[in-house]
Amino acid sequence: MVNLIEKKRDGVELTSQEIEWIIEQFTQGHIPDYQMSAMAMAILFQGMTHEELGAMTLAMAKSGDQFDLSAIHGIKVDKHSTGGVGDTTTLVLAPLVASVGVPVAKMSGRGLGHTGGTIDKLEAIPGFKVEVSEEEFIHLVNTNHIAIAGQSGNLTPADKKLYALRDVTGTVQSIPLIASSIMSKKIASGADAIVLDVKVGAGAFMKTVEEAEQLAREMVAIGKQVGRQTMAIISNMDQPLGVAVGNANEVIEAIETLKGNGPSDLTELCLVLGSQMVYLASGAKSIAEAREKLEENIRNGKALDVLKTFISSQGGDASIVDDVTKLPQAKWNYDICAKTDGYVTNIVANDIGVAAMMLGAGRATKESEIDLSVGVSVLKKVGDAVKSGDVLAKIHTNRTDNEEVIQKIQNAYTIGDICEALPLIYKVVTE
Ligand code: URA
Ligand code: CA
Repeated sequence: MVNLIEKKRDGVELTSQEIEWIIEQFTQGHIPDYQMSAMAMAILFQGMTHEELGAMTLAMAKSGDQFDLSAIHGIKVDKHSTGGVGDTTTLVLAPLVASVGVPVAKMSGRGLGHTGGTIDKLEAIPGFKVEVSEEEFIHLVNTNHIAIAGQSGNLTPADKKLYALRDVTGTVQSIPLIASSIMSKKIASGADAIVLDVKVGAGAFMKTVEEAEQLAREMVAIGKQVGRQTMAIISNMDQPLGVAVGNANEVIEAIETLKGNGPSDLTELCLVLGSQMVYLASGAKSIAEAREKLEENIRNGKALDVLKTFISSQGGDASIVDDVTKLPQAKWNYDICAKTDGYVTNIVANDIGVAAMMLGAGRATKESEIDLSVGVSVLKKVGDAVKSGDVLAKIHTNRTDNEEVIQKIQNAYTIGDICEALPLIYKVVTE
């Protein structure tokens, strides 16, 4: 291992065998953390070639369980987002894409810190089961084109161990390490094709469009190398997506979006990502045709019907779709108001995420219990004109003491005199 660290440090390319050996030995506990940390730092400074990156990704994908979805008919496309605040997209995309007959077999995670997880959001639906056996999962997708299950088993333990080290050694910010970390998980969970939503913004992993594009290109290249067609979009995360940040309120937002009444940014992002998914799954001849199909299924109610089928087939109460008051509701709502006239010029997305977490909508630590009924509504977005006293945002809370949260949201907003709406999607990256 010392020789390999020195080799990488000096900018010499590692062979696939060397990389496989490192990942295997590290997973089994034979390489101490200090040596793996030094290797991560050497990679951060020296980068990786496409060959190294492909080998690293496959080695990590093979380090634990690998799901075999070959019993599901059709091309299975998975979507991954690099972490957003109030990112309701999976709840919308899964039924929307399934409604055109494309299989959606999704394994999702729980939220941690300022970002939420789809599995928690789904648990806001009374009765909904996120634990599904592999057999049942495959049966559901073959019958209804859709199932979403919590990540189970031992998926990419090499990535789990390495990420924990990177987190405390200043080596998270390495494009090859991020790219291989994300792609290894998608490959291990059995996707045939992958659509990536790379977020850019002050609070995202990637701070500039250039960096995000580089990450997107690396991931698309890995996909090509390992035979999984991959596309990426680069989207803005300088403010939360849509209005709702929380759990039950994001389910309501997804229902509204599937009815065609959702916030414009969330709707657009779902249509762009959804058309790529449908296109990669060969559900349409072009991206434009895919988009037309999705828009049509929002208009004619098919997407909403698939949501209902999906909820009831996983044990949930589908009547919440027609009566959202059956979802958990917080006891109190408080307004956060503008103190001056002007335009909203900035909303610190991470601070809104942290505020929602403080209300109980997210987890401060892995062990925290979450309150599915609480959250934040981000009513004014960047570019909106406001008058002093206008409601910028609302909190939905079960707590009696909300001063700190209200302050945090107030401070997350900047009101200035220029009106400048942010672009939502910067770029589409393909092979
Ligand atoms: N998300 C991941 O899964 N891995 C990283 O390294 C960074 C973001
Ligand atoms: Ca949202």
